[in-house]
Amino acid sequence: MKISSSLQRAGLALLCSAALTGAAQAQTAAANQPVRVGVMLPFTGTYAPLGVAIENGFKLYVQEQGGKLAGRPVEYVRLDDESDPSKAAENATRLVKRDHVDLLLGTVHSGVAMAMAKVAKDTNTLLIVPNAGADNVTGPLCAPNIFRTSFSNWQPAYAMGKVAASKGAKHVVTLTWKYAAGEESVRGFKEAFEAAGGKVDEQLTVPFPNVEFQSQLTQIAAAKPDAVYVFFAGAGAVKFVRDYAAAGLKDKIALYGPGFLTDGTLDAQGSAAQGLLTTLHYADGLTLPKDQSFRLDYAKTYKLQPDVYAVQGYDAAQLLAAGLVAVKGDMSQRDAMVHAMERAKIDSPRGAFVMSKAHNPVQDIYLRQVKGNENHLLSVAAKALADPARGCSMN
Ligand code: BEZ
Repeated sequence: MKISSSLQRAGLALLCSAALTGAAQAQTAAANQPVRVGVMLPFTGTYAPLGVAIENGFKLYVQEQGGKLAGRPVEYVRLDDESDPSKAAENATRLVKRDHVDLLLGTVHSGVAMAMAKVAKDTNTLLIVPNAGADNVTGPLCAPNIFRTSFSNWQPAYAMGKVAASKGAKHVVTLTWKYAAGEESVRGFKEAFEAAGGKVDEQLTVPFPNVEFQSQLTQIAAAKPDAVYVFFAGAGAVKFVRDYAAAGLKDKIALYGPGFLTDGTLDAQGSAAQGLLTTLHYADGLTLPKDQSFRLDYAKTYKLQPDVYAVQGYDAAQLLAAGLVAVKGDMSQRDAMVHAMERAKIDSPRGAFVMSKAHNPVQDIYLRQVKGNENHLLSVAAKALADPARGCSMN
C-alpha cells in the first residue's frame, strides 16, 4: 500500500513536471513567433500621406531594433481603412478574427478609431492608436487594452484657445470638417478661449472630406472676426490654406489651428502658409538628441523629412516594445504587459512623455510659426498637458 502510494506520487510529480515543461516550451515557442501587427490606416484619400508616415515611423523603430521586438520578429497585416467609419468595425473585426493579429495599430480618422476601440474592447485585443484624437478613445471608451501615442483632439486645441486670447483676439469664427475630430477640436479651443474672455461667434462646417470652401470663406469675409480657428489635415489642409490666402484673407484675419494645418503640408502650401501660428506636440528646431537621430534615420531610410505623424508611429512601436520587453515577448502575460506600457517613459522625438491614467500622452504643446518649410518652435504653449479624460473609468 505504502509502495503503491509513493509510486503514485512519483508518477504525479513526473506528469506535473512534464506538463510544466510543455507549458514553458509552448511559451518559448510563442515568444519566438512573429508578433502580428494589424496595421489599419488610410492608404487612399485625403489622409493617405498621414497613414504612410505613421507606418514608416513604426517600421523605422522596429528596423532600429534589428527587425525584432523583445526577440520576436514583426509581421504586418496591412489594411486600407479609407478613413471610412462605415467600414471600420467590419475591417477591424476581420483583422482580429480572420487574420488573428496580436494587436491593432490604427488609425488616423477619429470616427474610424472609435469603431476600432469598440472592437478592441469587445474582443479584448490590444489597440495602439497612433493618431486619431477622438476624445472618447481615452474618455468613455477607455480600457486597459487601449493606448494612444498621439494626442486627444482637446489637447492642441485647448492650447491654441489660450494663445489666441493672449494675442488679443476677442471674436472668432471656427471652421472644420463636420466629424468628431473637428467638432472636438473646436470645443477644446472654445473652452480655453472663452474662459480667457473671448467669444466664438460662429461655428462653420463642411462635410468630410470636402475641399470646397468658397461659401465659408465668403461668410468669414463678411463676419470680419478678429481671428479664424480651423481644423483641417492632409490634402484638405493644403487646399484650405491656399484658398484662404487666395481669397485675400491671410493678411486681414489671423488664421489659427492645431498644427495638423501645416504639418507635412508645407511644400504644397508654399507662400500661402508663411507666418501661420499653430499649436502641436511636435515642432521643428526642438534640439533634442532623440529628435536629431530620429530625423537622420528617417531621412536616410525614406528619403523624406518626417512629420508629426511619423513621430506618432515611431512612438507606437516604442510603446509596444516597452510592453513586450517586460514580458520577454510573451503576450499571453497581458496584465504584466499593460502594466509596463502604463509605466513606460517614451523617449519620443517630440520630447519624453508618460501615459496618463487614461493611456493618453501627457505632453508639452508647442507654439510654432511657419518659416520657409519649417514649423519653427516659438515657445511651449502648454507644459505637460494631460487630457481631462472626461468619462473614462478603467473597469
Ligand atoms: C482625427 O480624425 O482625429 C485626425 C485626423 C487628422 C489629423 C488629426 C486628427
